[in-house]
Amino acid sequence: MSGRPRRARRWCAAVTCCVALTAARLHEAPAFAHTAGILDAAAFTTTDGRQIYERVCRGCHMPMAGGAMGAGRYPALAHNPALMSRRYMALTILTGRRNMPAFGARHAVGYGGPAMVLSAPQIAAVTNYVRSHFGNHYNDPITADEVQELDPAPR
Ligand code: HEC
Repeated sequence: MSGRPRRARRWCAAVTCCVALTAARLHEAPAFAHTAGILDAAAFTTTDGRQIYERVCRGCHMPMAGGAMGAGRYPALAHNPALMSRRYMALTILTGRRNMPAFGARHAVGYGGPAMVLSAPQIAAVTNYVRSHFGNHYNDPITADEVQELDPAPR
């Protein structure tokens, strides 16, 4: 007997919740697009290698760093013997390589917007993260100073 009103009340609560969530999302959407876009360098200051990988590299190199074949060839970073050289990897990120965009301040190019630039500490962090994850076991991390040395600023 009392089942129906209770169900109705629950349904009502669900709808209210849904409306609230949608409203919150609508409200947040423009802010999110503005601050968390892949090209918004200003808001991107983390030096957490995993976060950098997920926000900047994963779109091309894929979630498990498995690479992809499609409109282009995105090499796998998982189990990748080329990453044996920490300098090779850091230099690739700094200056780019063929279809791989450059992320160093002096090399990055914006495509219709500000360029996505990673600092030396950020490049060191993501290099060290990838070289010690996804089946890579290189235990000679690179330092931010070493990254900086690969790309000395003009004096
Ligand atoms: C827009 C797509 C794109 C993004 C974003 C991107 N890459 Fe790449 N990356 C590529 C492509 C394409 C190549 C292959 C370049 C070539 O032809 O040698 C590559 C190559 C590499 C290589 C060399 C692999 C090898 O076997 O020689 C490394 C290391 C690498 N990327 C790391 C990264 C890291 C770390 C990030 C994030 C900071 C990143 N990439 C972001 C597209 C991308």
